[in-house]
Amino acid sequence: ISSATPYTNLPSILLIGPPGAGKTSLLTLLERGDNAVPTHTSQITQSVELTVSTDGGIQSFRDAARDDAPGSHKKFMLVDTPGHGKLRESAMAKINANDPLKGVVFVLDASALDENLQATANYLFDVLLALQKRMGVGKTSKAPHAVHLLLAANKADLFTALPASLVKSNLEAELGRIRQSRSKGLKASGVAVGEMDDEDNEDWLGEYGAEKFAFSQMREFDVEVDVVGGSVLEGKVDKWWDWISERV
Ligand code: GTP
Ligand code: MG
Repeated sequence: ISSATPYTNLPSILLIGPPGAGKTSLLTLLERGDNAVPTHTSQITQSVELTVSTDGGIQSFRDAARDDAPGSHKKFMLVDTPGHGKLRESAMAKINANDPLKGVVFVLDASALDENLQATANYLFDVLLALQKRMGVGKTSKAPHAVHLLLAANKADLFTALPASLVKSNLEAELGRIRQSRSKGLKASGVAVGEMDDEDNEDWLGEYGAEKFAFSQMREFDVEVDVVGGSVLEGKVDKWWDWISERV
């Protein structure tokens, strides 16, 4: 399915997140304008080349997907990754790959966040920490460009779906707990928090030493986090498309 030609290096947007969240459904909708295509659990990373209109304002993905749409266009790769815990390595590797990564869309199921909060937040923690560390590499040379993260709170069509504001606060609270327990892991290995050296420091997500975690703490590392609700099933993904369009 990968349509990347070896000699092009198009900007890319990474779809990442827990299993069953709707990543492949979103890719299919953006590629074909069809939200009724059945998906299967992804076992491999797949990329599609998409086009976004760059003048006359942002157009709906329904128009922009057409190559003959008027105006100028920009091409980019949308990269879908498997959510299964055993298949995440390649997804995580994409964050540090050299291809011009322009944004990360972390898709989650807002209707099942209560049950999946820990698992979702654990994965998100790893993704955010990878983005944070990415900004930390090569402090002496030119810093890598910022990569922003969109939390796409999918399945808003279901009555159990949490609104974006609650998705945000629940995840912030859980990420704070994970940060605390992971730092206890460091302590247990014989390092006091106050005496953590630079290397331990690097595994601390967000503002160092802060009691509570907030996504705004990621700004220090040039990682801007937006939380936006939507529904692939209902085709309500325009805000996500706008976010992507602004970054490629
Ligand atoms: P993995 O490949 O396992 O990582 O999952 P994924 O994130 O690619 O999920 P996928 O797109 O395969 O969707 C999983 C299930 O959720 C499918 O049955 C979809 O039809 C369903 N789904 C996706 N988006 C929505 C949505 O907005 N609302 C509802 N109700 N169901 C959705
Ligand atoms: Mg999938």
